[in-house]
Amino acid sequence: MRIYKARDYGDMSRKAANILSAQVILKPNSVLGLATGQSPLGVYRQLIEWYAKGDIDFSEVTTINLDEYIGLPPDSPQSYQHFMRENFFSRVNIKDVNIHIPDGLQIDALGECARYDAVIRGVGGIDMQLLGIGHNGHIGFNEPGAAFEKGTHLIALSERTKKANSRFFKSEGEVPEYAYTMGIRSIMQARGILVVVFGEDKAEIVKRAFCGEVTPLVPASVLQLHNNVTLVGDEAALSQMGDGGDGNEGSAESAELAYTDEHLNLP
Ligand code: F6R
Repeated sequence: MRIYKARDYGDMSRKAANILSAQVILKPNSVLGLATGQSPLGVYRQLIEWYAKGDIDFSEVTTINLDEYIGLPPDSPQSYQHFMRENFFSRVNIKDVNIHIPDGLQIDALGECARYDAVIRGVGGIDMQLLGIGHNGHIGFNEPGAAFEKGTHLIALSERTKKANSRFFKSEGEVPEYAYTMGIRSIMQARGILVVVFGEDKAEIVKRAFCGEVTPLVPASVLQLHNNVTLVGDEAALSQMGDGGDGNEGSAESAELAYTDEHLNLP
């Protein structure tokens, strides 16, 4: 695992945007797995700026979003579809046909999850997956206890996640109960994973995820088993990680020593 310590949110966003941008420059038809939320917002802003300057081209890029609330129309301001269009897609030259987000209005859950997994397979898998981490360690909407071997599935949001996400709604009661999310298996199958974290309130979960036991109770801890993870965090978020985070590989103990893919039953 590579860990890059950033001075602040802006620096974190630029560092992560540089990594994504290198991915697209080296492989113009990259498949990028994308996340919503506060953590990647600055990354999108930076990529938009470089696109406007002519430094990066998304015309051949395909995107696969992690998750979507169930029951919100795509034009609802709180839907992830809307978030992505407002904050990224409408400001760069990604082709509409290359944008993929679970359909939150689809009530045939099994069908929608199978369709989404087929989309991921059909584009040849994800080259680089951008992730934020929830305070309870969730990645995508894979909440504590989520089985590591799942593909796309329907989940019930935990009370903690509903509370955290209520900042985007008028009240907590308006936060949808359910969502579609890529599963941990789908995330772990990405060829590279880029995690962005900022703020002191993430410090404890970042330490548990990357220095603690690999357990479904902390879904992000599974990332210790991936062989190509880059963590970019500001000083506050990385503050409990010991004296690592200086850009050198492996400054947090990698779980490679103790765990193998066998524990995960990954294909
Ligand atoms: C978003 C997602 C979530 C967020 C996580 C952190 O698509 O899947 O897992 O990445 O909740 O959110 P922020 O970045 O807002 O703290």
